[in-house]
Amino acid sequence: MGDMPSLSLHSGSRIPLLGFGTGSLGPLRQMSDEDARRAIRAGLECGYRHLDTAAFYQNEHVIGSVLGEWISAGKIKREEVFVTTKLPPTGLHESKVEAWMLRSLERLNLSYVDLYLIHFPVAMLSKDGEVTPSTTEDGRVRFDPEVSLEEVWKAMEKQVKAGRAKAIGLSNFNSSQISRILRVCNIKPAALQIEVNAYHQQRLLREFCSRHQIPVCAYAPLGAPGTPYSSKIPKLLEDKALLTLADRYGRSPAQILLRYLVQLEIVAVFKSANPGRMRENMKIFDFSITPEDMKLLDNLDRGKDARIYTMKSFIGVDEQQEYPFNVPF
Ligand SMILES: NC(=O)c1ccc[n+]([C@@H]2O[C@H](COP(=O)([O-])OP(=O)(O)OC[C@H]3O[C@@H](n4cnc5c(N)ncnc54)[C@H](OP(=O)(O)O)[C@@H]3O)[C@@H](O)[C@H]2O)c1
Repeated sequence: MGDMPSLSLHSGSRIPLLGFGTGSLGPLRQMSDEDARRAIRAGLECGYRHLDTAAFYQNEHVIGSVLGEWISAGKIKREEVFVTTKLPPTGLHESKVEAWMLRSLERLNLSYVDLYLIHFPVAMLSKDGEVTPSTTEDGRVRFDPEVSLEEVWKAMEKQVKAGRAKAIGLSNFNSSQISRILRVCNIKPAALQIEVNAYHQQRLLREFCSRHQIPVCAYAPLGAPGTPYSSKIPKLLEDKALLTLADRYGRSPAQILLRYLVQLEIVAVFKSANPGRMRENMKIFDFSITPEDMKLLDNLDRGKDARIYTMKSFIGVDEQQEYPFNVPF
């Protein structure tokens, strides 16, 4: 996985501490395949060897084509890059897991992924067999309340046994949903991907994961500037205390935020389409934040109100029994 520090997963593999997020490199943010391809190539050129995608992002084929180019040109070997993808909410049923896994592998042009995550614990019915949920005339999503997360997990385990995923894990699950999986699993979740940043620290859920030796991967580590969902939340990258700290260290606010997370042994999955910022974000392993300044960053926490990705754009999602964010952690 190159020179980047990494964490070991109980599956035996190692996950690089910085991941290159691709959520908005594609149709979700009206980006063309060619622009997305350019950004992913630039990420690999900068040295990122951990790519985070999802069926829901509709860009797996783009990542597949870039990886294909790089592998066939001998610039990279398959085992040198850690690829995460995710089962979409419209695939959240034990009978659908294998087909979605195979579809992702085909689009990614790979025979296995390093980590396969359940993207979100609420099952949605599909509009056309793809990732877009079916909706009623008034825009409410059609959900499938009968789905058993435990049964879906068993189907995820089969993907490991079939050699399609080196490791499997969860995303956006709360502690009681994770406990349910822990009670029935043969293969323990290798990681939990959740929103974590200095404003939304999820300390109780992280402590829960630490007790169960489940590494945490943080998405939106920079506070997701630019997403339509973050407009009501103060901009993390412009926080005064953070700016003062960044000044003192002679680093950018983004470097401080990413360094903060990796010092807490949290994998940080950020997105950038800008090669300058990609390089900047990589340069966080040549300095450390003092324990006093780590405390100062701890104190920036604004709790649950600072959650950006509530997923409420799926109308009605927060009324579902499995909606993960109605409980404290
Ligand atoms: N599992 C889930 O449900 C879930 C949900 C959301 C996201 N994710 C994953 O997490 C990834 C990251 O999340 P995110 O993109 O929402 O949030 P983020 O990484 O916190 O923020 C991305 C934004 O930060 C900007 N940025 C990057 N580096 C910067 C720097 N050094 N200085 C200033 N601005 C900088 C980027 O702009 P430029 O592109 O212009 O640099 C982009 O607009 C996604 O791509 C996706 O892979 C997962």
